[in-house]
Amino acid sequence: QELELKLEMLEKGGFDHFMLKEIYEQPRSIKDCMRGRIYPEKGLVQLGGIKEFAEKLKNIDRIVIVACGTSWHAGLVGEYLIEEYARIPVEVEYASEFRYRNPIISEKDIVIAVSQSGETADTMAAIELAKEKGATIFGICNVVGASIPRLSHAGVYTHAGPEIGVASTKAFTAQVTVLTLMALYMAQQRGTITQSKLIHLLTELDNIPTMVERCLLSNDSIKEISAKFKDARNFLFLGRGSGFPVALEGALKLKEISYIHAEGYPAAEMKHGPIALIDEEMPVVFIATKNSSYEKVISNIQEVKARKGKVIAIVTEGDTVVKNMADFVIEIPDADEIFLPLLATIPLQLLSYHIAVMRGCNVDQPRNLAKSVTVE
Ligand code: G6P
Repeated sequence: QELELKLEMLEKGGFDHFMLKEIYEQPRSIKDCMRGRIYPEKGLVQLGGIKEFAEKLKNIDRIVIVACGTSWHAGLVGEYLIEEYARIPVEVEYASEFRYRNPIISEKDIVIAVSQSGETADTMAAIELAKEKGATIFGICNVVGASIPRLSHAGVYTHAGPEIGVASTKAFTAQVTVLTLMALYMAQQRGTITQSKLIHLLTELDNIPTMVERCLLSNDSIKEISAKFKDARNFLFLGRGSGFPVALEGALKLKEISYIHAEGYPAAEMKHGPIALIDEEMPVVFIATKNSSYEKVISNIQEVKARKGKVIAIVTEGDTVVKNMADFVIEIPDADEIFLPLLATIPLQLLSYHIAVMRGCNVDQPRNLAKSVTVE
């Protein structure tokens, strides 16, 4: 039994849980995901897996992204990126809903299926349906050779390596990385981005693994914050723009592993409901980095403080304004807005991890959840 324990420790690379190991692997997994795909100095993105559709990408009318769970959140980030840079309209659908509602799909559409395992039953059924209607299917998968890559016409692997923790961490950031690459690849094919902008973004993307390392340095202070909120019964996560899917993902992580009820909302929607929940018992996590919605998020923070809510804010390094208003801040490096999800997600993963550990939860195998849902 002692040997078994030692083996397990080895597998976890010295970490207490697979989830923590996988959180810490992200600088490397993001790098692996970009390897051989970006050439910053040339301003070039190469995605061999979808190359044969490069021409088609110039003329498509629409992209539909289908996925479940965390992968669906990556899809929402993809929507922002593709619309912003490639100027193609994108819809993001829960695979389980898409498959049962006679969706309007034609041979002019590209359907992107996002899945860590590549075996999710609903996502596979959505692909089958879209294929029947003539759409081109791109798969974004982590597990090489899984069913979804085999069902797809083309695709891009995330190469995050095996993910053991049921709650997805490094697979999510790798999916977001691939979607970023796809958005820039499409923009390059369609001429919707200037070469200098592409060079600038790819240079910064190349540096994201180092920035993720910097995010991980906040681990100790995140642990301290977690201790203060481990007994909370509810949590709100608020963000705008691509900070909204980050908020959804932060809430999902917390629900999955700590069993605390949590909701993610677009910050501006707070006034249409969640604001009624705010009192001194309610922790609210804000994605409040310096980007185009910074000022607006600040007014939302004021609204929460005026109702005595507790504010934990993810801010840009060196921020002083939010620091003076929030109860706790966690800094992330300053980067172009397009990379916000890759950075802001890291502290939220750590927050839910520490809270779950402090509550004595089974972090790697939360109750009632499965790593891969192969039944409906
Ligand atoms: C399950 C897992 C989630 C995952 C979802 C979709 O619910 O517990 O972590 O996000 O399935 O899985 P997929 O493998 O398709 O990404």
